[in-house]
Amino acid sequence: MNHISLRAAAPPPGRVSTVCVVGAGYVGLTAAACLAALGHRVHCLERDAEQVARLRRGQVPIYEPGLDQLLADGLRSDRLRFTTEAREAVPGATVAMLCVGTPPRPDGRPDLRQLAAAATEVAAAATGDLVLAVKSTVPPGTGEALELLAALSAAPGCRVDVVSNPEFLRESQAIDDFFEPDRVVIGADEPEPAEAVADLYPPSWPMLRCDRRSAELVKCASNAFLAMKISFANEIAGLCERVGADAVPVLAGVGMDHRIGSSFLGHGPGFGGSCLGKDLSGLIATAESVGFDPALSRAARDVNAWARRRVVDRLAALLGPLAGRRVAVLGLAFKPGTDDVRDSPALAVVQGLLDQGADVSTYDPVASAPALAHLQRDDPYLAARGAEVVVVATAWPEFATLDPVTLAGSMDGHLVLDLVGSLPPAATAAAGLELSTLGRGTPDTFHPVVVAPLEWCLDAALS
Ligand code: UGA
Repeated sequence: MNHISLRAAAPPPGRVSTVCVVGAGYVGLTAAACLAALGHRVHCLERDAEQVARLRRGQVPIYEPGLDQLLADGLRSDRLRFTTEAREAVPGATVAMLCVGTPPRPDGRPDLRQLAAAATEVAAAATGDLVLAVKSTVPPGTGEALELLAALSAAPGCRVDVVSNPEFLRESQAIDDFFEPDRVVIGADEPEPAEAVADLYPPSWPMLRCDRRSAELVKCASNAFLAMKISFANEIAGLCERVGADAVPVLAGVGMDHRIGSSFLGHGPGFGGSCLGKDLSGLIATAESVGFDPALSRAARDVNAWARRRVVDRLAALLGPLAGRRVAVLGLAFKPGTDDVRDSPALAVVQGLLDQGADVSTYDPVASAPALAHLQRDDPYLAARGAEVVVVATAWPEFATLDPVTLAGSMDGHLVLDLVGSLPPAATAAAGLELSTLGRGTPDTFHPVVVAPLEWCLDAALS
């Protein structure tokens, strides 16, 4: 991916910084590799020694297009180093970027313990003034809490400021998102630490500077809005099924309004991944903790739970009782382009089918789920062998080019439930397969939905 390296303009002289990036997970590793490509000296601090050893050898532990190339470039230029030791990573750095996980607790509140530990460890290792830039998604007010903790462990004379600099990367497009951000958000209550963080990015990038609590909320609110858009699309898709309409043109028409926009209006089995659901729950927990009713966010979460449930309900409506029925599920990843199965709608479908006693086989081109390894097959046609129904649950491009004749030949039945609109309808039908999709009702003239307007028309005509 040379275009990425080329596009990564080096910062102007005097703007090269030494940065410590804490955490070499998906956000931290991407940020570290991209900052090094921008010309900064990056010390990536990761507590997992095996992970550090692999990264030093140039091995990327996650599936993220283009990241291996940037890692190789960073190692070769020596602008990117990995260590398990804070005393090697922190001294000399002006900014320490905290990119550790803030996973949800069972009650929806984020677990901030890794973040607190990172802030404490880094502050203790600082040999001069240091700015902590929080990339991890956190509730408003976390910056103040971290600043207090850092002040307790910093050496006398070392000042530690905390700036909110939330991350908006999407898995599978993380590199492009880093180099072409819609916005870089910098939230600080003092100008100097904000400047130190802003200096890490090219000045031409769109920047929003604000207070720290507002910056913290931008991230949660953005993900909650994306979740709401998807839940809205799924609600409209459910309504389309009932009124004999087709969600594809309906949502296309809605999205063509530039005030609304077409992205994140794709209907399907609901949203998943490690972020949207977590941040929606985080927003709800934050609102509830201050006595505010987050009605829209709660509704978005409820609709998502319904969007997942209804897949198994649909299969039961099509097949009858699911116990012992052979079902092949194509796709396990929470979206195409990633091996991540966290909170994956596809996995929820598999689990829902297993709960009903169905006999399930699965296939995914990249992802796997250790607990379901015994169900996984090496190619989609093997997964479909003997199946009464094939469910397409992740929109991998390769599913759009499946050979429907071979698929039909592998199956025992002829039903395909395409949750993500991947399969070409005409070719699928020509192979003798019955294609069922979400969001599409039968537009018969005497559909119940016609009765009410007909009555209203007749009322007007007779009065
Ligand atoms: C999301 C946000 O898009 C990023 O901006 C954010 O930085 C990231 O979370 C994060 O907080 O770290 P990501 O989780 O990688 O990124 O995935 P998305 O591309 O947002 O997709 C999330 C889910 O929504 C997937 O299950 C996807 O299939 C689903 N989706 C997306 C739909 O069901 N319909 C759509 O129209 C779009």
